[in-house]
Amino acid sequence: MVRINPSILAADFVNLERDLQRIPSADFVHVDVMDNHFVPNLTFGLQMVGRIQDVSPRPLDVHLMIEDVDRWAPEYARLGAYSVTFHAEATERPVDLARTLRSLGARAGIALKPGTAADGYLDLLAEFDQVLVMTVEPGFGGQSFMESTMPKLQRVREAVDAAGVDVWLQVDGGVDLSTITIARDAGADTFVAGSAVYGGADPDLRIAELRAAATGHSH
Ligand code: DX5
Ligand code: ZN
Repeated sequence: MVRINPSILAADFVNLERDLQRIPSADFVHVDVMDNHFVPNLTFGLQMVGRIQDVSPRPLDVHLMIEDVDRWAPEYARLGAYSVTFHAEATERPVDLARTLRSLGARAGIALKPGTAADGYLDLLAEFDQVLVMTVEPGFGGQSFMESTMPKLQRVREAVDAAGVDVWLQVDGGVDLSTITIARDAGADTFVAGSAVYGGADPDLRIAELRAAATGHSH
């Protein structure tokens, strides 16, 4: 099972409804919330994501790159986001927050920056529905895929399989037609792509190409 989640960080922010309509074959719409504190960039917040949710043809995969997730993450779940992913460093109590998100009906995700080890979370996998292994430093689109993160992704994959839990493994950053197979071979099943989807004339065709690449056989 392969999921392709276009990131609207690469869409036109004053034509978001139009750009959402251009990706009907997306599995989920990846929404990057940045607060200019957790990362050195700013996008949009709860009110904007609520309107995106109103008009989006596909469910939302919300990626919070913000501080104070204990306060804010549940609000995104209350909006009806399909999944809410917060960064490991943004809370002291990741398990409590994941349980809160699940109780509000959202899938709970934990994100690991390139420099953040997975070790402390491998025994807690049953508490989460998704682990996001960042393949760039969070904050900006259009960066190069960091292959150095693949051993961590492989370790998480092995731990998920060993535990027999249904946890999706997401990669985010620099995913394109060539790097998607690297991430797939390392164990990812859920792929975020911003520039690679919205960078061309036909975003939905790009999704099909990425999906074909990710479902093709490895060499
Ligand atoms: C980066 C964001 C990504 C970003 C990916 O901090 O989390 O979701 O949109 O963009 P690309 O696919 O262009 O690397
Ligand atoms: Zn993201």
